[in-house]
Amino acid sequence: LSSIRVDVSGVEVGTQISVKFLGKPVFIRRRTQEEIDEARAVDLADLIDNDDRNANKPGLDASDENRAMDEAGEWLVMMGVCTHLGCVPLGDGAGEFHGWFCPCHGSHYDTSGRIRKGPAPENLPVPIAEFVDATTLKLG
Ligand code: FES
Repeated sequence: LSSIRVDVSGVEVGTQISVKFLGKPVFIRRRTQEEIDEARAVDLADLIDNDDRNANKPGLDASDENRAMDEAGEWLVMMGVCTHLGCVPLGDGAGEFHGWFCPCHGSHYDTSGRIRKGPAPENLPVPIAEFVDATTLKLG
């Protein structure tokens, strides 16, 4: 299996980068405290998909703690592929839930990348990833 290392030292709080991995975009977002708080305040009963969709911790509930890379929740890493028909969602607070919005058919994802409204059936998936040091993220 191939893997890549991404230097995230230049990613400021409140911004994200998109890298290509295995031919698909991966979003790497460094969230603000506000985004983290918003994600963690959500009642799981309000979610359309209550699976964390996290390849690093499979089968857990979709609480933000199970989706973020680190305990504090600053880093969120997800495939940038809408779970409806595969368009690339827009980020940086897009959509009604301040996370990502897929313009193809109107799917709204929250600040944890969880589907909240629209035709997409599942949360944006978190790929196999880990921090190998403070500023290097390994994908795959
Ligand atoms: Fe994203 Fe249809 S592909 S809403």
